[in-house]
Amino acid sequence: MYNGCIRLHLLLAAFTPTPMWMRGLWCVAQYTESSQTYTQIGQAFFYNNGTITHNFLDNLAFTQVTHFLTIDNTDETDGIYQVYTNTTQGPPEYVNKASCFWYRQMSNGDVASGRQSNGTCTRTFELDTTSTAIRYTRNPSTCHFIDDEDTNLVLSDTSFEKNQILALDRQLPLAKRRGIVFYGSSSIRLWSNLSSDFPYYTVLNRGFGGSALTQCLREWKRIVYPLEPSVIILYAGENDIAAGNSPSNIQSAFRRLIPAIRRFYPNIPIGYISVKPSPYRIDKISKLNETNIRIQGDIKLLFPDVTFINIWPQMLTTDGQPRRELFGSDTLHMNAKGYAIWAKAVNNYLSTV
Ligand SMILES: *[C@@H]1O[C@H](CO)[C@@H](O)[C@H](O)[C@H]1NC(C)=O
Ligand SMILES: *[C@@H]1O[C@H](CO)[C@@H](O)[C@H](O)[C@H]1NC(C)=O
Ligand SMILES: *[C@@H]1O[C@H](CO)[C@@H](O)[C@H](O)[C@H]1NC(C)=O
Ligand SMILES: *[C@@H]1O[C@H](CO)[C@@H](O)[C@H](O)[C@H]1NC(C)=O
Ligand SMILES: *[C@@H]1O[C@H](CO)[C@@H](O)[C@H](O)[C@H]1NC(C)=O
Repeated sequence: MYNGCIRLHLLLAAFTPTPMWMRGLWCVAQYTESSQTYTQIGQAFFYNNGTITHNFLDNLAFTQVTHFLTIDNTDETDGIYQVYTNTTQGPPEYVNKASCFWYRQMSNGDVASGRQSNGTCTRTFELDTTSTAIRYTRNPSTCHFIDDEDTNLVLSDTSFEKNQILALDRQLPLAKRRGIVFYGSSSIRLWSNLSSDFPYYTVLNRGFGGSALTQCLREWKRIVYPLEPSVIILYAGENDIAAGNSPSNIQSAFRRLIPAIRRFYPNIPIGYISVKPSPYRIDKISKLNETNIRIQGDIKLLFPDVTFINIWPQMLTTDGQPRRELFGSDTLHMNAKGYAIWAKAVNNYLSTV
């Protein structure tokens, strides 16, 4: 039925990694070549380990789970992959059945998907030539996305989706694996000197402006998990306070985010940069302070393998006021002097892990 090469892989590969460019969340759409239009039919999430989940718009609550039994890079340039799969959850006609698919990386970033038409698994790529072929795409700026495991949780209905999260998704194919991932809100996103501040490391910026810790929890599996981070540096919480959430709300989100990361990466170092005292938020300084105290307490008691990187005291004057000179004209975002404090604190932390 299939060639000896594939059979050998079957014996060796209990676990088949997913190529970098396939990972993460995709919009699954029917693509019409003549008009170059996409009609979403569902979504697919490619885990790093050869597991794929699909959710379809006609029944979002229904998650189909498929695994690569083998994956064969048939053109040897990462352009065309033949995958032999087994479905373990989904429509009865697919469950416990093996199928052969093709995934081909298109020049516009899409992935064309085709099923080997005659049911065999030969090495000849078959492009789907029907007028509406299935594409895995990140090109449309509007697709409906949910969490594949918690299907009531909508990911895409946020103001970040179009301009920030999708843009980060689109960076996945070229991202370096095993870097130090800086994740969180605008203080991360605007860290323009990140590479030169950490010259000895591969750093990846996955900040999205305006994000709250709850938002980081929601999107982390999509934009950070596929990268296989070697270290995660987290900065979020300040925007939760600005949005009127209480320090204990943030603490609850933190108590969910760390286990969500640990589920996939039980051992990687995680550094949480303490909330900063922005002059712009002087009226909320006691809440920001309380957030730090709560998170620092949780780290001590519940998550001793996380490090609290405390930049708070250094950003205050001796009488406990924010140091205005560390901030830009909006009094919310930092200038080079502010970032210098962060760079030193995070470099000190990295030298210990
Ligand atoms: C891959 O990871 C997912 C998520 O943890 C898990 O559900 C799945 O069983 C794993 N697949 C394999 C083949 O190990
Ligand atoms: C597919 O998965 C099912 C359930 O784990 C298993 O019983 C079956 O043997 C698998 N089939 C193949 C071809 O690996
Ligand atoms: C199945 O299709 C492939 C690709 O078109 C072809 O090479 C192969 O000969 C076909 N096999 C059979 C049994 O028709
Ligand atoms: C933060 O809270 C601690 C403990 O209650 C207190 O000692 C400190 O003065 C507070 N700092 C600010 C800037 O509010
Ligand atoms: C970035 O680095 C350049 C060159 O060292 C420096 O002049 C600039 O102030 C830095 N900017 C920030 C925001 O840190």
